[in-house]
Parts: sequence; C-alpha cells; structure tokens
Amino acid sequence: MEGKNYINGEWSTAGDGVIEVMNPATGEKFGTVPNGGETEASAAVDAAAEAFKSWSKTTVYERASLLMKWHDLLLENKQEVAEIMTKEMGKPLAEAVGEIEYSASFISWFAEEAKRSNGRLIPASKEGKRIQVLKQPVGVVVSITPWNFPAAMMARKMAPALAAGCTFVAKPAKLTPLTAVRMYELAEEAGFPKGVINLVTGSASKIGRVFTSHPAVRKLTFTGSTEIGKELMKQSADSMLNLSLELGGHAPIIVCEDANMDLAVEGVMASKFRNAGQTCVCGNRIYVQRSIVEEFSQRLQEATAKLKVGNGMDEGVQIGPLVDQDGYEKSARHVQDAVDKGAKVLVGGDGRAENGAFFYNPTVLINATQDMLVMNEETFGPVAPIMAFDTDEEAVRLANDTRFGLAAYFFTDSLTRGTYIAENLEYGIVGWNDGAPSSAQAPFGGMKESGIGREGGQEGLDAFLETKYISIKL
Ligand code: SIN
Repeated sequence: MEGKNYINGEWSTAGDGVIEVMNPATGEKFGTVPNGGETEASAAVDAAAEAFKSWSKTTVYERASLLMKWHDLLLENKQEVAEIMTKEMGKPLAEAVGEIEYSASFISWFAEEAKRSNGRLIPASKEGKRIQVLKQPVGVVVSITPWNFPAAMMARKMAPALAAGCTFVAKPAKLTPLTAVRMYELAEEAGFPKGVINLVTGSASKIGRVFTSHPAVRKLTFTGSTEIGKELMKQSADSMLNLSLELGGHAPIIVCEDANMDLAVEGVMASKFRNAGQTCVCGNRIYVQRSIVEEFSQRLQEATAKLKVGNGMDEGVQIGPLVDQDGYEKSARHVQDAVDKGAKVLVGGDGRAENGAFFYNPTVLINATQDMLVMNEETFGPVAPIMAFDTDEEAVRLANDTRFGLAAYFFTDSLTRGTYIAENLEYGIVGWNDGAPSSAQAPFGGMKESGIGREGGQEGLDAFLETKYISIKL
C-alpha cells in the first residue's frame, strides 16, 4: 500500500524519500509513506490556519453532520481499515475491528457533545453588569499519535478538535501511518473542506519541531512515552502551547481475597493481554492477597496457557507479535531480571524472534518482588508478574509507589474496602471489578508523570475550547 500526505485537500508524495512500513508478523514490507519533514509540516499548519478562518464560523450542527458521515464511512469500511491496521502493527484482526468501532464511538460522541458546549451568564455583584462566559475553539491543533492504537488515538483527538471548531494536523507514528492514511481518505470522502484536516507522515523530530514552534499552532495533543512528552513540553515552553499529554503508565492490579474469582481472572486477562500487553493502561503488576495467591495464580496460568499466539490475520489468534525488536527485547529482559531475582515462570517466559517477526509468549510469573524491573517499569508486553500482599494499606502503598499514575485496577466485592482503595489510588483511571474501563464518554488521562489533561468525555471536548469571559457594562 502506498500512503500519501494530505495537505490542504491534496494528496502528495513530497518528502525526503519514503518510510517503509513493515508487517511485524511476517517481517515483510507492507507499504510506504512519504518521509515528510519541516516543509510538509509547515505547509500543513499554514493550510490549517487558513481553513480555521471559515471552519471556526460554521455551526456545530454542520460540523457534527460531517463527523457523522465520517463515522458511518469508517464503520462501513471497518473490515478493510482493520486489515491495514493488523498488517502494519500486528494486533489480531478481531481486536483491530474493535479498535475501529472504538474510534467511531469517539467521533459520534463528540459530534453530539459539541452541541452542548454551552457558555454561561453569571449573576453579577454590581448593578448594570452582565458577566458572560463563551466557549470558543482554541485554533489550529497539531497531534502526534502512537503505533499501539493507530486509529483510536487519532480519532480521540481529531473528533473533539473538529467538533469544537478547530482545524487539525495529524502526525501518525512512523511504524503505523497507513491506518491513518485510510482514515483520512474516508474523511475526505465525508466532505471536510480543504485545509480543515491535514496529515503529515515522516520524521518525528523534524515535524515535532515545526509543531512546537510554528506561530499559528495553538494546541499540541500527544500520546506516547513520558520521555518524549517531557521533551515536547520543553520545546513548547517558549510559545506557551496549550498541551494535552497522554503518557506512560505502569498500572497496578489489586486482587482482594473477597473478590469474585471468575471476574478477577477475566478482568486481569482483559487488562493484561489486550493488544499483547502493548497499551498504556495494561495491568503491569498484579498484587494478590496472600490467602488466595495460589488459587488465583493457578487460574491465571490456566487461562493464559489457552491464549493463541500468531499472525493477527489468522483465525482465532488472540496474541499477535510485539511491534518491533525493542519491544520483544524489553519483555525478555523483564522476565530474565525477574527470574534472576527469584520469580518463577508458571507459563510462557520465552518467544520467537526471527526474520523481523517478534512473538513473545504470554507469561505469568509468581513470587515477584518490588525490586524487579517488571514491577518498576512499563513492560509493554504480555508479562503478568504476581506478588502477594497482606493488608489493603500495603496494597495501596505498593500500587502508588511509582512516578506514573494513569490507570489502576482492583477487585473486591466489599463496598467499604473498594471505596478506601478507589479513593486512595493516585491514578486518573480506576477500574473496580473492571479490566476495561476505557470509553468515549469517560475522561481518560493520568496523574503524576502520566500526563496532563484528559481525552474523552466532557473533559475531552473542553481540551479544545478556550474560555472567554466578557464583562458587559450596560
Ligand atoms: C493507550 O494505550 O494509550 C490507550 C488505551 C485505551 O484507550 O484504552
């Protein structure tokens, strides 16, 4: 598949050669996209700035109607877009189809929600004054999105930005740009006016520098690692860019002895092995109350052993390849370090890396301790380490013992325990008996070094609106 950039309503191959997109399940080339840089990024921002003049004046009803056309086209073509995704990033086809549906849910939700971006009229303390609060689009928005959710992370940013009246420039991940290209083709078919949506593939550092320094850019929205997020924040300081940063996680899962065991195993499987462990909200470390640690570990081992690993295009596969060699080596390193420090492998613990394809087998470890790499760093792979705890206070302390604060999970049937744990976890997203809390209607984002701002829900729309206060003296 040959992807192109989309700038000011034109498809273009301009750039410094091409980037090859590889299929991580086969090691074969799947396609190419232009290796764009400063020139292409600047042209895209200029186009978005010009288009903002008219797009920001359209009614939210016009914008919502275009978004809904895009939503419908995406769903009509979901199988085809999902196949592109599976071939460029590896996730099983059923999961890729699920991601397209998840993406569409952001588009429809924000198309509706923007109709309620009301301002306010506040009673004044002085006679003859009117205090008005208006919500207005922030302006040109630029986005940088990751390879693990090539469709959903773009939709979660693009839909609220467009619904709010902003214009948009996307820079998809180098490893997975072709899903974004196809989504843009469908958006073009939906009829967005030229310049409103723009797409630039290529060098992250060159495009990123334009994004953080071009005077027409008003907002940068980024999903990716904490390290890159910090770099972008530094680069954006001079222009005081409005930032939304959805960064790394290191999610704890707490399983209490009074939990419903079936629900806990199901929830941990859903949280841990979604996308082969390659999500920012995947459970990374599992704390299980000592009295049930043996039973729980055995149940998790049995469920994990049944997972089918392979090429995501093959029927029934639940765990695809890791996206690249670095990802594979990180999982292998975390497991080796844990074993060296006393952990025992119940299932998995090995993999196959050959000819540019990287499959790591889903792994369950017991006897994990807090000093192991896997308990301190986001693994981003299918590795589930289990450590025993005794009291709720201890579990919460261990869970909070990290610089990250994106998602946390716990399982208990006790309202009192659950309320204590939920209120004391320092995380932006908490799943109580729920391993899959993400949804278009809810705010998604982290505390501490997991980021700034929220995506999804009312907060996700607010992120693309400025608040203007107008004081009227009659
Ligand atoms: C992420 O990994 O950043 C996104 C996961 C989700 O939306 O649930």
